[in-house]
Amino acid sequence: MLLLSQRMKLLKKHNKMSLLNLLLFLVITPLLCHATNPNPDFIFTGFRSTDLTLKGIAEIKPNGLLALTNGTRQKSGYAFYPNPITFKNSPNESAISFSTSFVFGIIPEYPTLSGHGISFVIAPQPSLPNALPSQYLGLFNESNNGNITNQIIAVEFDTIQSTEFNDINDNHVGIDINGLDSVLSYPAGYYGNDGRFQNLSLISGNAMRVWIEYDGGKKQMNVTMGSIRMRKPSLPTLSLDKDLSQYINPIMYVGFASSTGSVSTSHYLLGWSFKMNGEAKEIDSFKLPKLPRINRQEKMFNYLTMVLPFVLMFVLAAVISAVVYYVRRKRKFAEEIEDWELDYGPHRFKYKDLYFATKGFNEKGLLGTGGFGQVYKGVLSSSKMDIAVKRVSHQSRQGMREFVAEIVSIGRLRHRNLVQLLGYCRRKNELLLVYDYMSNGSLDKLLYDEPGCTLNWRQRFRVIKGVAAGLLYLHEEWEQVVIHRDVKASNVLLDSELNAKLGDFGLSRLYDHGTDPRTTHVVGTIGYLAPEHTRTGKATPATDVYSFGAFLLEVASGKRPIGLKDNEFILVDWIFCFWSKGLIFNAVDPNLGGVFDAQEVEMVMKLGLLCSNTNQYSRPTMRQVVQFLEGDIPLPDISSLGISAEALSFAHKQGFEDFSMSYSSSLMNKAFSTSMAGSHLSGGR
Ligand SMILES: *[C@@H]1O[C@H](CO)[C@@H](O)[C@H](O)[C@H]1NC(C)=O
Ligand SMILES: *[C@@H]1O[C@H](CO)[C@@H](O)[C@H](O)[C@H]1NC(C)=O
Ligand SMILES: *[C@@H]1O[C@H](CO)[C@@H](O)[C@H](O)[C@H]1NC(C)=O
Ligand SMILES: *[C@@H]1O[C@H](CO)[C@@H](O)[C@H](O)[C@H]1NC(C)=O
Repeated sequence: MLLLSQRMKLLKKHNKMSLLNLLLFLVITPLLCHATNPNPDFIFTGFRSTDLTLKGIAEIKPNGLLALTNGTRQKSGYAFYPNPITFKNSPNESAISFSTSFVFGIIPEYPTLSGHGISFVIAPQPSLPNALPSQYLGLFNESNNGNITNQIIAVEFDTIQSTEFNDINDNHVGIDINGLDSVLSYPAGYYGNDGRFQNLSLISGNAMRVWIEYDGGKKQMNVTMGSIRMRKPSLPTLSLDKDLSQYINPIMYVGFASSTGSVSTSHYLLGWSFKMNGEAKEIDSFKLPKLPRINRQEKMFNYLTMVLPFVLMFVLAAVISAVVYYVRRKRKFAEEIEDWELDYGPHRFKYKDLYFATKGFNEKGLLGTGGFGQVYKGVLSSSKMDIAVKRVSHQSRQGMREFVAEIVSIGRLRHRNLVQLLGYCRRKNELLLVYDYMSNGSLDKLLYDEPGCTLNWRQRFRVIKGVAAGLLYLHEEWEQVVIHRDVKASNVLLDSELNAKLGDFGLSRLYDHGTDPRTTHVVGTIGYLAPEHTRTGKATPATDVYSFGAFLLEVASGKRPIGLKDNEFILVDWIFCFWSKGLIFNAVDPNLGGVFDAQEVEMVMKLGLLCSNTNQYSRPTMRQVVQFLEGDIPLPDISSLGISAEALSFAHKQGFEDFSMSYSSSLMNKAFSTSMAGSHLSGGR
């Protein structure tokens, strides 16, 4: 009631009180009476929403923590004790002593940077609506900063050095009266028991404790700091000897202001005690809510929770694609290799090497497509050696082993007139044979396809002798008898010096092995097949000689053994016809332009006819053939051997019909039909 009368006096002085005012006054007085407790004394260890009046972005967290700012930039937050506090009983009196203590913490987004600070404020209102954040700390604005009429006293904990307000550093505590130019400031910290000053980093993320006391008698304000668990140091950090009475209205509000600048920072208050006319209660640090962990860790945590899944996904994707790549690559380059093949080690090529050598079996490197598959040019990356890779598709696994054994043994054949087989590689349904590359391709191309660069007689005769030598080697000079089975112009390959090399030998064996012995089975090329070969399906050296005969006639006449378009044309008949009329030179290839050695041509023609003898026993052997060609022994008279046009023609036609029959009875396998279709290209290069 004392207070009530005081207030009555006060109000009377300031207002000319009307009856209405008096009534109003009487209604609200009980409230004020309760609020203006003469000696307010409170303590909050953690806050409830009813404890404080919040302004700006301040909020109370569920754990009781007061967040004055929450990390949003360029914002202020305020929290005031809701009730007015009487600091003096009349305007001309001295301010009463008071004391306060609080625990705060500043959590910067970046460990070494912060955005301004937090202040304890004594203000005429429980808000500072016109104040600005940033360097104004949420206390003033540019026009009222320093105005005597502000009636604001603040203790600032500033983390930025604002030179316009003469801040001493970026980690200081200061006492501000009506403006931000602190009347007294000092680095944040405390004096230890030994009297030495200890710095405290405001933005360390640790909670700090503050004691502020104003002694109305001594006219002295002390600010003391310490870490959260500390007792109050005996020496204050700041001690200001100044009568604050003139800056304090009789009724004032106490609270906190905080503001952020351009760097995201959060300011927290954990607990607060206040007492007029006495010492504020000591805050029990163990009852306080916990400060959030410093952002560095939070950021790291966020970073981990946000980035880790992506990293994991990325790693997983990388692993999966690596595995897929590996598996696909593995599948792509998969080969078949069995124990028995290990003996052939050196002859075996890696599919991968062949794949890269031929640039993935690129169409551009396709040299030809023949009876047994495609032939690609390649360059071995290891040795830079030119190779020809023949891809043979095979369905039957049965004969594979024998065939590979044979291939390998063939690989041991060495003759300057044989295309060198370098090795092989085996895959599912696919066999790859690797040969020396022959830069001038197959003979048939030179004979038929490129009239501009046809071979002259001397070159042709050399080719003939070369092929004969190669065939002789196969038949007689190697440890086993090897039957070529497919002697023809397209299987004769020419190297860069036009040396003839016989290719593709033994390949037809692949289709011999493992097939039904009851089937009449012939591999070869029509027109080069001996009649008995077509009949019995049995290849002998003599059947090779027959083919060689057809080859001789072909080279000399520049015509295929059997007309490609016209199956009625049979070269042997045709030449025999000329021969029997004594007009053998009419059969010579016109591309030679009449330039040839007549003796040699005649000998080759006759030898061709001799080799084409229906009777296999009447044919010369390859050794004899070579001797004839070398001129070591003279050629026997053909008529004396009893060859007649009829016999030749008949035999040939019969052979051809047998061949056609067996073909049409579809007992032939794939190799046969491809031989029929594209025999002229099946050169192994
Ligand atoms: C901070 O508080 C303000 C107002 O309460 C809100 O709009 C903002 O989203 C908060 N920011 C953060 C980072 O929590
Ligand atoms: C307060 O002091 C001023 C001068 O400082 C004086 O003019 C005024 O009358 C005083 N008021 C009271 C109520 O004592
Ligand atoms: C600054 O604050 C004062 C009140 O303290 C107000 O009257 C003034 O308009 C404000 N100025 C600006 C620029 O906001
Ligand atoms: C305390 O901080 C001030 C500057 O803020 C510095 O000069 C001083 O060396 C520091 N003292 C200690 C003990 O770290």
